[in-house]
Amino acid sequence: MADKHYRALVCTHWGHWNELELQALQRPVLAPGQVRIRVRHAGIGFALSLFVAGTYQRRPPLPFTPGTEVAGEIMEVAPDVRQLRPDLRTGQRVIAALDWGALAQEAVALAHTVYALPDAVPLCAAAALPITYATSWSALQWAARLQAGESVLVHGASGGLGMAAVQIASHLGAQVIATASTEEKRSAALVHGAAHALPSDAVALPTAVKALCPAGGAQVVFDPVGGDLADASLRCMAPGGRLLAMGFASGRIPQFPANLLLVKNLGVLGFNYGRYIGWGLTDERAVHAPAVQALVGQITQAVASGAIAAPRTMHFPLPQWQQALDTTMSRRAVGKVILDF
Ligand SMILES: NC(=O)c1ccc[n+]([C@@H]2O[C@H](COP(=O)([O-])OP(=O)(O)OC[C@H]3O[C@@H](n4cnc5c(N)ncnc54)[C@H](OP(=O)(O)O)[C@@H]3O)[C@@H](O)[C@H]2O)c1
Repeated sequence: MADKHYRALVCTHWGHWNELELQALQRPVLAPGQVRIRVRHAGIGFALSLFVAGTYQRRPPLPFTPGTEVAGEIMEVAPDVRQLRPDLRTGQRVIAALDWGALAQEAVALAHTVYALPDAVPLCAAAALPITYATSWSALQWAARLQAGESVLVHGASGGLGMAAVQIASHLGAQVIATASTEEKRSAALVHGAAHALPSDAVALPTAVKALCPAGGAQVVFDPVGGDLADASLRCMAPGGRLLAMGFASGRIPQFPANLLLVKNLGVLGFNYGRYIGWGLTDERAVHAPAVQALVGQITQAVASGAIAAPRTMHFPLPQWQQALDTTMSRRAVGKVILDF
C-alpha cells in the first residue's frame, strides 16, 4: 500500500451527474469499525442522479464520492474489526454496502455492512448483490411476505431492482408478470424468470394482467417506477393485494386514492432498504446487522449454488464513467450497470 493516492469520481457541488470530476484523493486513516476495500467493481443505479443533485433523502457533506455498492478485496481493517468481525481478513473477496464512496479505486465501509463472497460467485457480477438484490429480496419476503404460487407484477423489470425482483420472486415460487418499455428489455425479463412480459402501457395493463392471474389480479406489485404505472397497478391487483412502493424512476411520486384501497382491501407498503443499513432517520445498522448479514448470505449462496443466475450486468471501465452513467439515466440499461476499476 505504498501509493497513498487513489482515483475517485467526486461530487464537488449539487448538480447534474455529468459534472462529477475524476480526481486523485489522499487515502484516509481508518476509524474504528472501518474496513478498506480495493474496489474492482461498483454498481450504478438511477438513485445516483438524485444523490448528486442533492434531492435524495440523504445528503452527504460536499465534496464526496457517490456510489453505494462495491465488490473487491479487503486491503486493511481497523484494529477493533478483528473482534467485531473475526470472519473478515485482508485479501478476502467481499461485497459491501456503503453510505457513499463506491465509485473509486478504494472505498471505506463499516464492518457491519461488509459481506464475505463465496468463491463460486463472480466478482464482476457481485457488486449488484449487497444493495440491489438485498433490497428486492427483503422487500418481497420481509415486507410483502410473498408466498409461492402468488402472482407478482414487477415494473421496470429489466432495471437493477426490477430484474432482481423478477429473479427472486420466481426463485421463491411466484408467477412473475414483468413490464418493461422495449422488446429487448421484455426478452431479458423472460430469460431471467418472468412467466409473461408486457409493455409498460398503463392503459392496456389492467386487462392484460387480470387475464394472466388465476386470482383475478396480481397479489403483489413490485414498483420501482411510480407515475402512471403505479396508478394503473391498483387496477391490476387482486383483492387483498400488496403494492410495494420501491422508488420513482419515472420522476412522478404517485398518490393512492384511499377509496380504491378500501374497496379492494389493498395495502400499499413503503419499503426503504436503507433503514436496515444505516440510512434511516436514525442509524439502525448495528441493530439490523445480524438479519442483514443472514439475508446477504442467503443471496450469495443462492447465486453460488446456481439457484438464481448471477446478476446480468453491463460493464464500463473507469475512463468511460460518463457512458456508464448515461446508459443508466437515459434508460438504455438492461440489467445492472457496473463501473470496473
Ligand atoms: N426502496 C429502496 O430501498 C430502494 C433501493 C434501491 C433503489 N431504489 C429506487 O428504485 C428506483 C429504481 O432503481 P434502480 O436502481 O432499479 O434503477 P434502474 O436500474 O435505472 O432501473 C429503473 C427502471 O425504471 C424504468 N423507468 C421508467 N421511467 C424511467 C425514467 N424516466 N428514467 C429512468 N428509468 C425509468 C426503466 O425501465 P423501462 O425503460 O422498462 O420503463 C428502468 O429499467 C429508483 O428510484 C431508486 O432510487 C429504492
